[in-house]
Amino acid sequence: MIKVTENKVFELSTKRTTYGFFVNDINYLEHLYYGKKIDLNNEAFEALKSKQEFPIGNAVSYDEEHQAMTLESKLLEYSTRGKGDIRNPLVEIEYVNGSRTTDLKYQGYEIKEHVEMEELPCSRAKGEKIEDLFITLLDQENKVEVTLIYSIYESDDVITRRMEIKNLGTDDVKVLRAFSLQLDLYNEEYTFTSFHGGWTKEMKRYDQPCIIGSLVSESLVGLSSSRSNPFVMLSKKGCTEENGEVYGFNLIYSGNHQESVEVDTQNHLRFLTGINPTTFSYTLKNGETFRTPEAVMTYTNFGYNEMSHNLHGFINKHIVRSEFAFMPRPVLINSWEAAYFKFNQSLLLKMAKKAAKAGIELFVLDDGWFGERNEDDSSLGDWKENKKKLPGGLIGLSTKIHKIGMKFGIWVEPEGISEKSNLYKAHPEWALKLKDHHHSMGRHQMILDLTNDEVVNYVIESMRYVFSQGVDYVKWDMNRVFTDYFSQSLASEKMNEVSHRYYLGLYRILDTLTKEFPHILMENCASGGNRFDLGMCTYFPQTWASDNTDAVSRMSIQRYYSYGYPLNLLGCHVASHHNHQTLRFTTLDIRFNVALFGQLGYELNICDATRKEFNEIKEQVKLYKQQRDYFVNAKVYRSSFDTNNVTLSVVSEDKKHAMGVIMQHRIAAGKWEDYIRFHGLEENAEYRVYSKGYNHSLLRFGTLANMVSPIHLKEDRGLIKLLAKFVSMKEQGLEYNVKGELLNSFGVGLRPSYIGTGFNDKTKLFGDFDTRLILIDQK
Ligand code: GLA
Repeated sequence: MIKVTENKVFELSTKRTTYGFFVNDINYLEHLYYGKKIDLNNEAFEALKSKQEFPIGNAVSYDEEHQAMTLESKLLEYSTRGKGDIRNPLVEIEYVNGSRTTDLKYQGYEIKEHVEMEELPCSRAKGEKIEDLFITLLDQENKVEVTLIYSIYESDDVITRRMEIKNLGTDDVKVLRAFSLQLDLYNEEYTFTSFHGGWTKEMKRYDQPCIIGSLVSESLVGLSSSRSNPFVMLSKKGCTEENGEVYGFNLIYSGNHQESVEVDTQNHLRFLTGINPTTFSYTLKNGETFRTPEAVMTYTNFGYNEMSHNLHGFINKHIVRSEFAFMPRPVLINSWEAAYFKFNQSLLLKMAKKAAKAGIELFVLDDGWFGERNEDDSSLGDWKENKKKLPGGLIGLSTKIHKIGMKFGIWVEPEGISEKSNLYKAHPEWALKLKDHHHSMGRHQMILDLTNDEVVNYVIESMRYVFSQGVDYVKWDMNRVFTDYFSQSLASEKMNEVSHRYYLGLYRILDTLTKEFPHILMENCASGGNRFDLGMCTYFPQTWASDNTDAVSRMSIQRYYSYGYPLNLLGCHVASHHNHQTLRFTTLDIRFNVALFGQLGYELNICDATRKEFNEIKEQVKLYKQQRDYFVNAKVYRSSFDTNNVTLSVVSEDKKHAMGVIMQHRIAAGKWEDYIRFHGLEENAEYRVYSKGYNHSLLRFGTLANMVSPIHLKEDRGLIKLLAKFVSMKEQGLEYNVKGELLNSFGVGLRPSYIGTGFNDKTKLFGDFDTRLILIDQK
């Protein structure tokens, strides 16, 4: 709800939060409050507002009449350069005389029903009554109008912000900085948390104290990037998963972004998020408007889990546009790690038939099906089938896959162009590169110039063809980062617009194709999670979160993604026993227990599976299908981090089902107790708690096998090996009923681990990186 009082106090309230600012004596907006819900009445306003009576020595007063108006000492709702605020500003504009001073004054406001942007992905009301507040600011002398736009998502406790800059003058103006969101706060020992990584190591969490100066998390590689995800947090000291104050921020944008925290000597903290100014500027002619991407913020005093719930609900309801948003997803099998570039149609069909028998529903043909693509150094841009590999083309293969009873999916990388391609021969000027200069390649390829409409139209046309070949699913990849921000189709003075204009082009492509092919399930990928952001999530209901399919790495990658993104957005695959990225061996059970907390897929040669493995896969697929209906909008809970035991649990929206996983990193000698904490279950309801049992090979006991085996074998290795073929050591699963209140306050205690003094069927054999999965259903 938006309330505006007579003394021009703006109160924006959601279910459990209040956000406030007011128009001060010089017609600037001062920030008042963002936190737990309060009544922002007159008394509260008087109590909250800055009470500066005199200027600070050597600071600049806004004007002679308002001596105490030293902008550097105020909490501001927006900021510019040149009028006394010395911190990094929200907006910076260069005028034709070279000046960068901007003096924006409040003009008025309007409340409207939610307005969506055309050229950029943005939040959508989707049937909810969402109010937008438009605040108009004007620099009278420079003839520049700035509009601050707030959208209030009451039920999710989310407020979004964006900005528009319009040139009303006759001279051109150059926008140098146009952030989407500024939040000024009193610094109360905040911690700035950002998530960084790289290929196969996405989303490592970094916590840095906000003391003095600037902390910056940013991407300069042309994609939102796995180097620095745009999702960040600011939390107060002592915040845990279950308790404490925390703000979460994200940006609906896929290009270079920057999130910064600046603390000054008065202990004021300024947070900014938006387009990275280092690779950006934008010239506006008379009458032209620049729109920033939309930024998202949430606040809670109930810890990180609750902050995640706010964002997850908002993303599922108001960001993901696809009709698949709340649909359970098909189990897929992907050909990449099974065959890489070495396949022919008969191998694909063999894999598909076997997969269908296991209950897998979607067959995805990854890279290598087009042009002369037998390695990763050619053919990007030539989106026609390689008839040697697919004699009947895509349509022939998809018809056959459909006949097997599966859906058919395909990999594409439409933004890439290989030097070895017909497209490059015909249009070398379509690559983002300097003409006649050496160009640095990434994965032997270049990036198409999506600032050029002709190229945008080519991509739409070529994908229209691919998408029409009986395709039910598309994995849209992008496998390099930007180097030359240079378009051969733009005038030289516009080169600093390339990084942003590229995304305007990409968003036009995605908008067109997703509208034309709404029935296609789209998966976003950029060498894994190199472009996992809310901009892409608008078009893609799922993302291939990392090229790393190692269950141990994935457990941490997926858990950290869950701070900012719902788990149902993550594609998670069970890959080969010796992982291709780490060569670590993990059991099929471990790989599945981790992949189950995402959209399940398999990425291994299922034809190589032993009968035992195949049956296990069949069981896994069956279990996933039982859980997937509620998984799409389940609440995720992380327990406070124990470095050796990582746990994750999800609870269905109606609180009828839950599941939790624990991964032990290293066997801890003498430690037998392990728990999974559950949260959010109905206190008085009765639940069935259960887990599967295990048959452990006798060989896992080494030379102790003779002690634990039912027959005494002395130390005869040959006999032990032989016996191991017929006898296994049982570990019983759990099976009991209990009330929700117990699960919420204590959790589920697992069977005790083997600690060196005996083993029976009520003991668990819990190895390095082992997992256990607990399932819970309301009775
Ligand atoms: C990228 C993707 C992989 C796979 C390959 C194919 O690396 O992240 O999943 O699709 O491309 O070349």
